[in-house]
Amino acid sequence: MRTRLLKGSTRSVFDAAALIRAGQVVAFPTETVYGLGANALDADAVARIFSAKERPADNPLIVHIAAVEEAFPLCHWTPDAQTLAQAFWPGPLTMLLKKKSIIPPITTAGLQTVAVRMPSHPLALALIKASGCPIAAPSANRSSRPSPTTAMHVLEDMSGRIPMILDGGPSSVGVESTVLDMSGDTPTIFRPGAVTCEQITMVLGECCVSDSVLRPVPATQNAPSPGMRHKHYAPKARMTLVKGDANRVAQYIASRYDRDENAAILAFEEHVPLYGARHTQSLGKDAMDAAHRLFYLLRGMDLGGITRIYAETLPENGLGLAVMNRMARAAGFDVVNADNEY
Ligand code: TXA
Ligand code: MG
Repeated sequence: MRTRLLKGSTRSVFDAAALIRAGQVVAFPTETVYGLGANALDADAVARIFSAKERPADNPLIVHIAAVEEAFPLCHWTPDAQTLAQAFWPGPLTMLLKKKSIIPPITTAGLQTVAVRMPSHPLALALIKASGCPIAAPSANRSSRPSPTTAMHVLEDMSGRIPMILDGGPSSVGVESTVLDMSGDTPTIFRPGAVTCEQITMVLGECCVSDSVLRPVPATQNAPSPGMRHKHYAPKARMTLVKGDANRVAQYIASRYDRDENAAILAFEEHVPLYGARHTQSLGKDAMDAAHRLFYLLRGMDLGGITRIYAETLPENGLGLAVMNRMARAAGFDVVNADNEY
């Protein structure tokens, strides 16, 4: 199959919507990362997403809508869901709610909850409206690869596997949406994102973060969300995160780097000079920059033949929690504290 890469326009959205209505899969931009979309209510179309992505069948998809009312036929909507939708939609918040029977089991991997989100990217909204159906879409990477934040990333992973990619420029957020479980007693974050626990607490008065966000799910335990169990965001290189006082972190990383071949360093802008002439990529000034750049940098390191990555860390609050969650998973939870190493 030839994959067409088209700039977002009225015409290309029209063509993409025709493919979606015909049960095909189309990649499209959202403000978080690119998605791989198909009609969420058509089991055969959704099956095509799983095969293009080589995604395990036990990992459910997010259903994207273009207006709040479109959630009502899909799930058991609640007053808290309405409050959060008013505060954060369209935007990077996904809510897990009890599903209704219109959603085929394949979309939710057999679970009784469905993930719903209204993205804010104008091309995503235009595509959903033009298709006239809710669009199931995981991130448009091959399973276990870093999520795509540009149309070129999608082409790298999906060329020959899908008929069309809509190009809407680089994703503005750069990490996937916050996944918030609304089906239990206390709203619980299963995957942190740009809508933070602090913001949700301000609106609802409560919110907690699942333990599994920064720690691997023990083999003996059920994962609250199947995605927590799967290998994710992984670059080809082995990656280690180094915490602690900035100077100690730099000393530790520099000494390890010098022993490795094809190593690279991910550091915050102000620390880059501490690494001298070593191959160092800047995560930027803050969590927002790091979220925006992380997947882009990891993919670049893969292409550059890097086999060992050392990365600085950041505080695990606000958007920092989302960045740390992606970095910890990319590193297979290999985290060292430089303050304890001397
Ligand atoms: O920003 C995003 O959320 C992007 C864009 C395209 O919208 N999508 C995305 O989808 O990241 P995906 O499939 O890569 O990640 C969805 C996550 C997975 O970890 C999945 O396990 C979890 O959400 N999830 C989906 N439905 C669920 C459910 N019913 N119960 C628990 N976890 C669920
Ligand atoms: Mg994904």
